[in-house]
Amino acid sequence: MDTHDISWQVMISEEDIQRRTRELARMVDADFQGKDLILICNLKGAFVFLADFCRELTILHEIDFIATSSYKGTTSSSGVVRIVKDLKSDINERHVLIVEDIVDSGLTLDYVRRYLSLHNPASIQILTLLDKREARKVAIEADYVGFVIPDKFVLGYGLDFFEHYRNLRFIAEYISPE
Ligand code: IMP
Repeated sequence: MDTHDISWQVMISEEDIQRRTRELARMVDADFQGKDLILICNLKGAFVFLADFCRELTILHEIDFIATSSYKGTTSSSGVVRIVKDLKSDINERHVLIVEDIVDSGLTLDYVRRYLSLHNPASIQILTLLDKREARKVAIEADYVGFVIPDKFVLGYGLDFFEHYRNLRFIAEYISPE
């Protein structure tokens, strides 16, 4: 796939992402004060958001990573998700906040949440920067949402277009050529 000359238009600016990230961090600061908090970042897309979000938090917290891959094509709609990188930390009786870049169909998040709940955490909540609510295939809602966006393909700020463009400082909508 040639990803060089693709078109996009900015959907959410760097300034708006920064402002909203600070607001979300203030909410999480307040809600998890005094609790044993671990942020679990679902790779790869959420790594940029995690890096900015955790630096806005003022409460103590740990960070760990999990990576999933979903089978493409016909099986993706059946929710077949695989863990390709597991947690290092023990989350038993700890407060887990899953950090996501985007919730689309919700299949990945639903799988991750069910997987983590097998490890007996004290609580599991979900933080996502973007929420494509219209695209949901399973009933799952994040507890903290940065922006609700329309059902468009987006890239930048950690999100990729065929593995490229994760480094953009803003979120852009992909404009298809035809
Ligand atoms: P879901 O399982 O359909 O909710 O998809 C979740 C994952 O698909 C996200 O963590 C992203 O990695 C990817 N994804 C969904 N929508 C987009 C998009 O618009 N741009 C880039 N990646 C996306």
